[in-house]
Amino acid sequence: MRITRADAIFVGFILSLLLFLLFLSTRPRASPSPLPRDDAHRMARTRSECLACHDPEPPTAPYPLRSSHPQKWRDATFACTRCHPRE
Ligand code: HEC
Ligand code: HEC
Repeated sequence: MRITRADAIFVGFILSLLLFLLFLSTRPRASPSPLPRDDAHRMARTRSECLACHDPEPPTAPYPLRSSHPQKWRDATFACTRCHPRE
């Protein structure tokens, strides 16, 4: 079988696609921000206190989590502050 010009272009295309995916995978992921240093965050101790202001489900919370937030927040045994440290 002869390697045609179209084959070479196809292989080149696949290689550049792989390189592009490799590039994407090396970029740092969004890192969680530390807690703001204000009274609300100094006082809040429990997860439900955090969710009173940040729960995305009742859209009445003043500062709901975005839908792009890591879904780990739903795990009740994993404290918010393990990702968002107090400074
Ligand atoms: C009284 C309401 C209230 C409580 C309770 C509260 N927060 Fe917040 N939080 C806010 C508001 C409003 C903001 C956005 C304004 C700011 O940065 O201060 C915010 C900002 C944040 C941010 C920074 C977001 C950013 O865009 O940088 C994080 C992280 C956060 N809160 C996590 C928590 C965690 C974890 C808890 C529980 C320990 C908590 N909050 C408790 C109201 C609250
Ligand atoms: C697995 C780690 C992790 C856990 C657990 C976690 N967060 Fe986050 N949080 C993040 C990351 C990462 C971002 C930044 C997301 C971005 O920039 O797109 C973030 C962003 C936020 C923000 C800014 C608004 C937003 O949605 O981007 C708030 C507020 C927040 N988190 C509150 C909380 C609260 C409250 C909890 C506990 C119920 C919690 N987080 C649990 C990793 C975590």
